This record gives sequence, C-alpha cells and structure tokens, in this order.
Amino acid sequence: MSAEDSVQSIENSATEAIEHTNSLAELEAVKVQYLGKNGIVTEQLKRISSLPAGERRGFGQAVNRIKVQIAGRIQARHECLEQVSLDQQFRDQSIDVTLPGRTGTIGSIHPISRTLWRMEQIFDRLGFTVVEGPEIENDYYNFEALNIPANHPARAMHDTFYISDHVLLRTHTSPVQVRFMKEHDPPVRIIAPGKVFRCDSDVTHTPMFHQLEGLSVDLDVTFADLKGVIIHFIHEFFEAEPKVRFRSSYFPFTEPSAEVDMGCVFCGGEGCRICKHTGWVEVLGCGMVHPEVLKHGNIDSDKYTGYAFGLGIERLTMLRYGVSDLRYFFNSELSFLRQF
Ligand code: DAH
Repeated sequence: MSAEDSVQSIENSATEAIEHTNSLAELEAVKVQYLGKNGIVTEQLKRISSLPAGERRGFGQAVNRIKVQIAGRIQARHECLEQVSLDQQFRDQSIDVTLPGRTGTIGSIHPISRTLWRMEQIFDRLGFTVVEGPEIENDYYNFEALNIPANHPARAMHDTFYISDHVLLRTHTSPVQVRFMKEHDPPVRIIAPGKVFRCDSDVTHTPMFHQLEGLSVDLDVTFADLKGVIIHFIHEFFEAEPKVRFRSSYFPFTEPSAEVDMGCVFCGGEGCRICKHTGWVEVLGCGMVHPEVLKHGNIDSDKYTGYAFGLGIERLTMLRYGVSDLRYFFNSELSFLRQF
C-alpha cells in the first residue's frame, strides 16, 4: 500500500469510528485514539522525518489534510451528540404541568366535635345559648341539688370516680343546670355540652364520653314545648323525619320524666341489628324540671316551670354516621378519622 493509500485508510476508519459514537465520552475516546499525543494521526506525523526527502512534503500534506478532516468530523459529531444529550435532558427534566399538585394533608374535624358543632347550630337557631360547667364537680351539684340525696339508689347507677369524699368527676352534664340557675334569673334557655366520666369500660362504654344537657325555664313552659323542641332537633339532626315517641321513665331531677325513642333510621322501623330488631332506638332522656331542682337554683317553682333533657353525643354520632363501635372514637385510627 502506498503511503498515500495508508493515510486515506486511516481517514476512512476514523470517519467510521466517529459515525458510530453514541455519546460524548465515546467521541472523546475516538479523538484521543486518532489525534491524541500518541494517536494514530500523530504517529504518522512523527514518521515524516524518517521518510526519504522526496516523499516528505507529499506525505506531510496528506497527513495534515486528514488531520484537519478528522478534527472537522469530530467537531460536527460533537455538536450533534451534544444536541441529542440536551434533548434527552429536556425530556427527563420536563415538568408535566397537567399532573395534580402535591398538597399537604390537612387534618379533619373529629366526628365528636363535628356532631357537637351541628347540635350547637340547631339549638342556637332555637334560641339556646351554650354554657359550660366544671368537669371536676362536688357532690352537691352532681347529686344533691339534682334531687339525688345520699343513699339514693340512683347514685349506684352512676359509677362515680371520686377524687375525695365530696369531690368527683361529674357523671353527667346535669349539674350545669343548677350552677346556671343560681347565677341567672329566668328566662333560662341553655345547652351545656361537655365531657362526663363514669367508672365503666366495655364495648358500649368508655370511662369518658360526652353529653349535651338542655334546660329551659320560664313562665308557662310545658311538656308540649319540650316535645316540640326535641322532635324538631331529631328531624334536623338526622336530616330525616323518623317517628319520635316519648316513653315514660324516671329521673330524680325531672317529673314527669321520659325517654325519647325514634324510628330506626337504618331499617326504617323494620327491625335490624342497630335497633335490636325493635324498630326503635333510644335517643335521650328528658322531663319537666323537678320543683326541688328549681329550688336549688333559687327559682320560684310556684311561678316558673321548665324542661330539661340530656343526650349522649357519642351515641347520636354513631346513629347519625352508622358507626358500629364506640371505641373507634378514641383509638386515634386515622383510616377511621379521615372519613369525616
Ligand atoms: N343526666 C342524665 C344521665 O346522665 C340524662 C338526663 C336525663 C338529663 C333526663 C336530663 C334529663 O336533663 O331531664 O343519664
């Protein structure tokens, strides 16, 4: 092969090698292989001095020509590969603006708080004001003033947590009735929601739960007023109009007393697990305030009458949302709480 031909074949193989590169790193390797300090083309240039004088010029020109050619091709391929890698980078890093954004998760309102708010709204529209009383009570307000004297059998039903002889955790929200009446003259129209405590724990009882107490005292307040308010409340709260019945009952602080049942909203009264196949579910206790209780509230029972009611907030929440187990409210299980 003539010197000229061998130079040409170097150029051909370099061209092919350049064409076959797929990355800038590969191209750089080819560049070193041909044009580097010990590269193939460079080696040819070093050969010039060993050639016969007559061939040097022609050979030198030929090598320089392919050197320029190869460098040009490398430059062109470099630009091409750079563009490809840039395109790839754009593709990898592009943002799909149509994807839904990432938002932080926001906590939800606990079902008990939610229910309480709804109850407060309903009673607010009926002219009731929200008041509070202490969770640590004394014997007098929790029992005595509510016509439950010492040794009264009703005390046994309350499973009281005693702190000392006369100090206890309130077992119901009814003590707020007397506390409020002592401080305010009629007309009285209040609801008193809050925590209550009983030494009791099983599937349907927790040692702490919530009640909402209602009290209305004025001239000429009758049982009919009580019925109207309760029936209206049930219809509003359940956003339905189940049947409501008042079943006579006994509470020491009301006379007469009643327990209120409503037609089961789950089965429409046909009978199911929730209503224990009776078609009715118990909703609350109520009655006309006992004259003894009015007396403890410094209210003249000859002049004024009143009604009171007390309901369990957990119980109504379970009925409203179809929750089957009371313990869900207190075991902080997020999959349960997130549904509200
Ligand atoms: N305090 C009662 C309880 O905890 C509930 C109750 C019943 C409250 C009748 C009342 C009422 O105000 O009139 O079981």
